[in-house]
Amino acid sequence: MTAPKGPPSRNIANDVPTPARMYDYSLGGKDNYAVDREAVLEVNRRLPGGLDIARQNRLFLYRAVRFLARDAGIRQFLDLGSGLPTQQNVHHVAQEFQPDAHVVYVDNDPVVLTHGRALLAENDQTKVIMADITETSEILANEQVRQLIDLSKPVAVLCLSVGHSIPDDVTLRDMLATLADAICPGSYLAFSQAATVAPEQAAIATGVATGLGMKWKTRTTEEVSALLPDLEPVEPGLIDVDDWRPDPTQPPLPPVDAPLLPFIGVRAQNEAFKDSMEFGGVLLKP
Ligand SMILES: C[S@@+](CC[C@H](N)C(=O)[O-])C[C@H]1O[C@@H](n2cnc3c(N)ncnc32)[C@H](O)[C@@H]1O
Repeated sequence: MTAPKGPPSRNIANDVPTPARMYDYSLGGKDNYAVDREAVLEVNRRLPGGLDIARQNRLFLYRAVRFLARDAGIRQFLDLGSGLPTQQNVHHVAQEFQPDAHVVYVDNDPVVLTHGRALLAENDQTKVIMADITETSEILANEQVRQLIDLSKPVAVLCLSVGHSIPDDVTLRDMLATLADAICPGSYLAFSQAATVAPEQAAIATGVATGLGMKWKTRTTEEVSALLPDLEPVEPGLIDVDDWRPDPTQPPLPPVDAPLLPFIGVRAQNEAFKDSMEFGGVLLKP
């Protein structure tokens, strides 16, 4: 999990959990191993509310992409740390509102690339590339990215639920600054990451994830805000993404596996769990 920078490995490790496969299990997916399922259960035993937070982030992704395509008229999407294909993937949502929308998915997990190829077969306006998103300039210059994304026109860069996988603050800030510089006025950056209000809670959450072998940093909401580039957050600003333009009528997520059922809804049952969240929003480059 703590692979050095450089070309991502194509070896598929099934003896350590990966964020992509753990997230897949949390979303009701089947593309995961026993080690990932056990890690999700362990995280939720130690950090009740984790499952709800992951699922709330995915529901936010739908609302953010719908806003960008339907309301902001964006027709190009660069999805950094895209995760495994599931239902209501970015290209499904974007193309529902902008049928000619182009989408490039970027992830460093080889399983995402393998499954992404199946996704590509269904859509020639969509590509998946395997890369480390902290090598941001290389991604922006990548030929396949350039084929689908024209940076002289408004684009939405999605960086959702991946900032916590980049523990070094300077690396994350530089990555986001590079993106903000590269996009033209009228473009957007959507961002979310695991965060808490209280610093002690952030340290506890980070300890649980790193204890499972993951490269991880839960930040405070204040730290996240300070790392984001100087762009204009659209209403309602930077917030617990569960509260970002909530829509009870949006398409639901697939149901979870039986062992996860006891963890569904626990966040709403205890006010203290509201301290932990996926924190973020959608920012406009004016
Ligand atoms: C929790 S998933 C989020 C998926 C999706 N963005 C969403 O919000 O629904 C995080 C993804 O980021 C990927 N990831 C983590 N660090 C990365 C890096 N440095 N470069 C590329 N992908 C990365 C993981 O492999 C995983 O698929």
